[in-house]
Amino acid sequence: MNEITIRRPDDWHLHFRDDAMMRAVVPYTARQFARAIVMPNLTPPVTTAAMAAAYRERILAAVPEGIDFTPLMTCYLTDNTDADDLARGFADGVFTAAKLYPAGATTNSDSGVTDVAKIMGVLERMAEAGMPLCVHGEVTSADIDVFDREAVFIDRVLAPLVGRLPELKVIFEHITTAEAVQFVDGAGDNIGATITPQHLHINRNAILVGGIRPHAYCLPVAKRETHRLALRKAATSGSARYFLGTDSAPHTREAKENACGCAGIFNAPYAIESYVTVFDEEGALGHFEGFASENGPRFYGLPLNEGTVTLRKAPVAVPEAFDAAGASVVPFHAGETLGWSLV
Ligand code: DOR
Ligand code: ZN
Repeated sequence: MNEITIRRPDDWHLHFRDDAMMRAVVPYTARQFARAIVMPNLTPPVTTAAMAAAYRERILAAVPEGIDFTPLMTCYLTDNTDADDLARGFADGVFTAAKLYPAGATTNSDSGVTDVAKIMGVLERMAEAGMPLCVHGEVTSADIDVFDREAVFIDRVLAPLVGRLPELKVIFEHITTAEAVQFVDGAGDNIGATITPQHLHINRNAILVGGIRPHAYCLPVAKRETHRLALRKAATSGSARYFLGTDSAPHTREAKENACGCAGIFNAPYAIESYVTVFDEEGALGHFEGFASENGPRFYGLPLNEGTVTLRKAPVAVPEAFDAAGASVVPFHAGETLGWSLV
């Protein structure tokens, strides 16, 4: 197959940032995707419906003329989230989901939740309302090795949570381990998972072999090869539990190439091309539309997009860097040639 036409896809996990960086990166996503679940980890975080509504307007103002793109907003949960504001925001269509960052897990997560028990009342309201919970699934205890943090999160937090609130819709985001695949496969239909392009393409050697490579570093960090293979199998399996979520997370080159480099991979410019390459390599192009365009909206209970996009087997060269906000941002696959192009 040299060409594939699919229903317009969506990105179910994305960081746009704010201000000049946001205005620079929104067009890359809008070129490919009809909708995106927008992460709320700004400074300060998006914790109220009013903040989310204002942020949504700023994003819409950055969408290029003539492109139809809808940002789907999320609420950053804290120990003090106001359940009434959250429920009202969801009922009014401002919020599509809420995001659980364990405090200290990643970029701008300091105000995150210190103990899920503290937000049980909020999560109960969400379960009643049918509001989905997006989860950054890593424990943060200093005694847990960074490569084990996702697997330990399943045992200590996620499995007990799902047991306690079996009807809550949970998206286990950017999964990176065979343990996560096993958990999702064995869970109920109300548990879904997103998978990023980088976790399908690279293992931890890409970060550490031949020198330290900060542009391959994100959180959860890429694991060993067995995990990457498990993720590729899950994504391309045809299971409706798995869907596209890039976790594109732009940081300036300076912030990445630093003595303490930020976590995050900017994959937005060629995300759909990156994913389709994996499905082609796995001989699973027939499952690509489900992963990219159907499983996500069905999980969220949202309509499928109208319209289509076509991808063609034709090389596309990924630039070494993009200009954004007066700075340089290095993309995923920088300097590589991908085998598929968006027509
Ligand atoms: O690598 C990451 N970067 N992981 C996250 O969870 C957050 C993100 C960011 O905001 O930079
Ligand atoms: Zn993220």
